[in-house]
Amino acid sequence: MTTCFTATPGVDVITTTADIPALGSLAINAFVLHGSEPILVDTGTVAGGAEFMSVLTSVIDPGELRWIWLTHSDFDHIGSLATLLDANPNLRVITSFLGVGIMGLSSTPLPMDRVHLVNAGQSVTVGDRRLTAVKPPVYDNPITTGFVDDRTGILFSSDCFGALLPAVPQTAAEVDPDELRAGQVRWATIDSPWVHDVDRDAFGHALDRLRAIEPTMVCSSHLPPAPGAMLDVLVDSLALAPAADRFVGPDHAALEAMLAGMVDVPA
Ligand SMILES: [Fe+2]
Ligand SMILES: [Fe+2]
Repeated sequence: MTTCFTATPGVDVITTTADIPALGSLAINAFVLHGSEPILVDTGTVAGGAEFMSVLTSVIDPGELRWIWLTHSDFDHIGSLATLLDANPNLRVITSFLGVGIMGLSSTPLPMDRVHLVNAGQSVTVGDRRLTAVKPPVYDNPITTGFVDDRTGILFSSDCFGALLPAVPQTAAEVDPDELRAGQVRWATIDSPWVHDVDRDAFGHALDRLRAIEPTMVCSSHLPPAPGAMLDVLVDSLALAPAADRFVGPDHAALEAMLAGMVDVPA
């Protein structure tokens, strides 16, 4: 089910909750930044495109959008991308060089005259705000590019800081701290399995660079919005990921056992 709520004045969240057996519930968030040139951060899931468009339309006329910040091209981020571009000739996509390249292999390539390329550290002026691209310390796709919005001070962190939770409230502040830490570590080991192999000092420096941003709020694609005061807690949890247990999914024997418990298979 896809719903929407306001994270802070001028920033709406469009969220879908995915319930993953044995792992927990995962928020899948897109964000609308209202302003002189409205921005949509990611575009929901491929499977839920129609519902996403319906909820999006309840918070903004899609024809008023001027920009999509595409953090990366995974199926939980590009759901309504082509639909929105087709319907609105004034809409342009901010992404990385690799984002354009990967989308070029899809059935809906990004038109080259409608993209704006950014690399980490570069800024884009979008109407009455300036967005500065940030490379999060964990990610599942090399395209991944988050950003800091100078108008609100919010860090949009893409998959980084996601958490598998018992339930998904509207703010991360409502999550039990132990559940949040465990859910964040679990997600980081699933989404960024290479995190176990990083140089711990280098990873620590990357986390320090994140702390230095001092955002007013953290808006992750896979966590309810978190007040900026929670940044240290979120980063401290991420610091536990390299030494955590590696995630290994159910194998085929486990799948057959699950299916046998769920359905009556005709003889
Ligand atoms: Fe992803
Ligand atoms: Fe994602």
